[in-house]
Amino acid sequence: MYRTHNCGNLRLNNSDQNVILCGWVQGVRNLGGMTFVDLRDRYGITQLAFNLETDADLCQKARKLGREDVVRIEGVVNERSSKNADLLTGDIEIVVKTLEILNKAALPPFLIEEETDGGDELRMKYRYLDLRRPNIQQNLIFRHKVAQSVRRFLDKKDFLEIETPFLIKSTPEGARDFVVPSRMHPGQFYALPQSPQTFKQLLMVSGFDRYFQIVRCFRDEDLRADRQPEFTQIDCELSFVNQEDVLQIFEEMLKSVFKDVLSIELPSVERMDYKDALKYYGNDKPDTRFGMKIHELNELVKNKGFKIFDEAELVAGICVEGASSFSRKQIDALTEFIKRPQIGASGLVYAKIDETIKSSVDKFYSKEDLTEWKKEFNAKTGDLILVVAGDKNTTRRALSELRLKLGNELGLRKPNDFKALWVLNFPLLEWDEEAQRYYACHHPFTAPKEEHIELLEKSPEKVYANAYDLVLNGNEIAGGSIRIHNRDLQAKIFEVLGLSEEEANEKFGFLMKAFEYGAPPHGGIAFGFDRLVALMNGFENIRDMIAFPKNNAGRDVMLDSPSNIDQEQWEELKLKPKKD
Ligand code: AMO
Repeated sequence: MYRTHNCGNLRLNNSDQNVILCGWVQGVRNLGGMTFVDLRDRYGITQLAFNLETDADLCQKARKLGREDVVRIEGVVNERSSKNADLLTGDIEIVVKTLEILNKAALPPFLIEEETDGGDELRMKYRYLDLRRPNIQQNLIFRHKVAQSVRRFLDKKDFLEIETPFLIKSTPEGARDFVVPSRMHPGQFYALPQSPQTFKQLLMVSGFDRYFQIVRCFRDEDLRADRQPEFTQIDCELSFVNQEDVLQIFEEMLKSVFKDVLSIELPSVERMDYKDALKYYGNDKPDTRFGMKIHELNELVKNKGFKIFDEAELVAGICVEGASSFSRKQIDALTEFIKRPQIGASGLVYAKIDETIKSSVDKFYSKEDLTEWKKEFNAKTGDLILVVAGDKNTTRRALSELRLKLGNELGLRKPNDFKALWVLNFPLLEWDEEAQRYYACHHPFTAPKEEHIELLEKSPEKVYANAYDLVLNGNEIAGGSIRIHNRDLQAKIFEVLGLSEEEANEKFGFLMKAFEYGAPPHGGIAFGFDRLVALMNGFENIRDMIAFPKNNAGRDVMLDSPSNIDQEQWEELKLKPKKD
């Protein structure tokens, strides 16, 4: 046997057993006549003991071991005299009889321990070493557990796991495509899928009824903490369902996975209209773990001589519990925060609710006026009211960001507290002023609400969609919709989106054709798998949940990719004129 145990499973009841272990040298400690080596593998750390008196050669060999050398030892399990309660194997050590060095290691560029001294770029360059760190290994083990739990749930519910192609066709909607040049068809390109959307719909036309795939998707978009150019979806589609069926199955899946992996009973998933999400939280993915809702104040504050409020499209505010003691400096910092160009608010008005109410607009608002503010927010002594004015979008954005920032600072957004929310009743389309055309809010295959179809022609902006987003702790973790399954309605939507008949046929003719051959009513959803596992694990950054992620500039610093290709490849692909 190459090894009899791993570095995490020996205990006191294995005492006196002869064992063989393999692993990496975490560290060597020389204490007088004894040398101790910590041996590490994925399962844990086991202490190896070498006695200079009983076997001087072996002990000398152990002393020469370097960090990360790969070794195989044989020895006897022994009760430790000084136990280590922090290690699962901390009651025992192995008295080593033979030590075989399987492979020497060069000095690693950073400490391979939970707390490392390696910076981000260095860790990514040596990601295979970074991935030896126990905390990062735990992240990927966690990811595996969630994936298996999802598979078990969906399998039980009759979903079939079916793979769809990665070399597909570029389409005009959504984010930018990554494209792949074709050698056999010079000048033509495949595109990598942004999602398997049209394929899963075709699988419904084929009668598979329930499909899922844990699948890589590719989007050439600007990166953020919760976005990678390639990421993974739990992609699902079902036939003969309405919106309610989809919401129920996937709420059950979410609860089942939380129970299975974290032993957490997730409370019922609340539901909120898109327009209420904007009105009360300032964004379409509210973090409902805490209150501090937005109150609109137009009626209360206008026509009192304060020009900024009078001229604003929206005056609105939040009430921060127990924050009336915030200093001038703290309030200035909040003001600067919302005045940053990314938010663009023009300023911040405050009212401190103490025995008397003190505001930054005392000149325009009397004691009575401010008491009305207090009433509106149901504020108590010790609270702080913060008010922003401007156009609707900026005001909402500013208050949303302010709310989240204060939520963080006041410890109201605990990572191990989970609150999920369905956001419903999205508009079908949004108008793009710059492009002077409508875009689909979700995607162009989303069905409008039955009762709104007749509005498509005259007032497309009034049409609501049968679409839904699932939000967890203020992050969008899934989105989906009931789809159009009628050829003519699909053609109509393409027309509203400004696609000519030829363009629609060229890009999506295959789908419209399929709808002519008995397409069942269907709908589905896709979870952002990286986001789900990151949040379940208490993070918002998805990078450490991915084995080999890209950096913020979309580069793989280990491979040094993207990179140039050889001259022959350029020529073969006919991307550049041949060299004469
Ligand atoms: P959507 O575009 O909303 O829907 O994507 C579904 C979910 O995928 C996650 N996500 C991402 N995660 C990491 N990095 C990214 N760049 C990224 N982009 C999206 C989000 C999002 O909620 N085909 C439809 C789904 C459907 O209608 O069934 C789709 O792709 O968590």
